[in-house]
Amino acid sequence: MDCEKFIEEQIAQIKETVGQEKVINALSGGVDSSVVTVLGHRALGDQLRTVFVDDALMRESEPEQVVKIFADMGITVDLVDAQEEFLSALSGLTDPEEKRNAVTETFYSKVFGRLVKESGAKFLFQGTILTDIEETVAGIKRQHNILAQLGIDPEAEYGYTVLEPLKTLRKDGVRQVAKALGLPEEVAQRIPFPGPGLATRIVGQVTPERLETVRKATVIVEEELSDSGAFQYMAVLLNDKATGIRDNKREFAQIIVVRCIESVDARTATATQLSWEKLNCICERITQIKGINRCLYDLTPKPPATVEYI
Ligand code: XMP
Repeated sequence: MDCEKFIEEQIAQIKETVGQEKVINALSGGVDSSVVTVLGHRALGDQLRTVFVDDALMRESEPEQVVKIFADMGITVDLVDAQEEFLSALSGLTDPEEKRNAVTETFYSKVFGRLVKESGAKFLFQGTILTDIEETVAGIKRQHNILAQLGIDPEAEYGYTVLEPLKTLRKDGVRQVAKALGLPEEVAQRIPFPGPGLATRIVGQVTPERLETVRKATVIVEEELSDSGAFQYMAVLLNDKATGIRDNKREFAQIIVVRCIESVDARTATATQLSWEKLNCICERITQIKGINRCLYDLTPKPPATVEYI
């Protein structure tokens, strides 16, 4: 694929479609939305407002790191603190689908909907790629074109049109364009992280304390497995407790599951054969986290398991 040609064509097309209107996009730090952000800013400069919504479900320092990566490229990203709104929408929920819906609705119907209205934007960039469209058509995924699924017609509701400059590319093409645009390796090769963030890695209630626990475990798993070459790796907090012994006292504490998978497109996956030494090292570090006394490694392939836990 000729990346330079793709970039030139998209920039020309964006300029022509948008004219002098204002545009907005939400950046997650993932490779798709990052590429859209850089393409958009190359084409439109300050006509494009890029926001990063802090939904309280991000990994350690993720909001600040993403803002910094783009600042280093001369692109301003507005960090919007919506933590309270997401936490209160999730409060008391334990059902996986209800938790996912709470995150999606809070993002689109409340936080981002409000930002779009305030911005006066006539266009909105979305990082939809070809695989998203194919999987939505096949009924595998439900995340593409989420507004339509929520019964919202963006033009009628908010007066904006959705633009999807990456809809002809697959993931490997997006990664190539990311490199050609000068995005750092950590963005171009970033492992997948789901839209509903750490909420997909907490079974049971999502509270600030439980988020903090899974966030600490995630730091350890990512540090230990970043050179594993695996497709994806994560820590999951279960909704259960087990007995253990600490400082010669019995305690009843929480359980973290480590998941590390080999996959091509996340449609199927198998557990990575990590070395016993590596697993022991992860276990030792994770059980030092306050409130955790067991660490398990998940061997289950997809199917029958999914990658995430909710
Ligand atoms: P599952 O859990 O469905 O995950 O086997 C397959 C792949 O998709 C990612 N994933 C998501 N990505 N929004 C996303 O952008 C989501 O709601 C979402 N749910 C799962 C998951 O991390 C894995 O790579």
